[in-house]
Amino acid sequence: MRIPFIAGNWKMHKTVREAVETATALKTVVAAVEIVDIVLCPPFTALGDVGRAIAGSNLELGAQDMHWEPQGAYTGEISGPMLWELGCTYVILGHSERRHHFHETDDEVARKVQAAFAQELLPILCVGETLEERDAGRTEDVIERQVRAAVAELDAVALPRLVVAYEPVWAIGTGRSATGGEANRVSALIRQWLGQAVGGPSADETRVLYGGSVTPENIAEFIGQPEIDGALVGGASLNSEAFAAIVLAAAGGP
Ligand code: PGA
Repeated sequence: MRIPFIAGNWKMHKTVREAVETATALKTVVAAVEIVDIVLCPPFTALGDVGRAIAGSNLELGAQDMHWEPQGAYTGEISGPMLWELGCTYVILGHSERRHHFHETDDEVARKVQAAFAQELLPILCVGETLEERDAGRTEDVIERQVRAAVAELDAVALPRLVVAYEPVWAIGTGRSATGGEANRVSALIRQWLGQAVGGPSADETRVLYGGSVTPENIAEFIGQPEIDGALVGGASLNSEAFAAIVLAAAGGP
């Protein structure tokens, strides 16, 4: 059985004080939730304090990116061992904002995925097509390429620990989400490509999330789909009440 998974990506938002306030408020509201993996991904600067604020709770810590080398002359970068030391369990990799604003390539994302596993960090691998690619009928080609490249060097035992987020770029931060049916279809394909790329049935255990303008109002449409196991939430995760409502919906509650 795949356990539902809800992650909040705070992007470049919140000072340390604001991040701790939001995490602390959220912790109380979702304390009774047992069957959902709930992950907060604050900016690097707030990881340590948020980690301490949620210690002993049912919330887990994730980072938003990492470098593929464990150390070295890479000014401004953060490595896997540094994230692990701060208590991170997860790390978002290949987010479309990294691919587009910072020109991250499929090859770099693949190196980061391998480096994360080597450091016992679990990747939340993001894939998704732009509006231009979608309009050109290239959605499947683009996502298949992104998925296969990212897992090219992995073996089947890694797949149950990998989380993939399908995030159509045109749906991120736009208020225009994909339909549940569309996201479900792509999620099934992602699992199929994962299985083909590494061999064996272990892709059945990979959690596939939907991301892109998820809100308390539309989460049911996604979580109700058989191939979708949860959501990667940006804007709505900044508010503890909105994010808690999404978590509770994923838990099957009110
Ligand atoms: P959004 O962002 O929920 O604000 O659309 C999602 C994401 O970028 O992960």
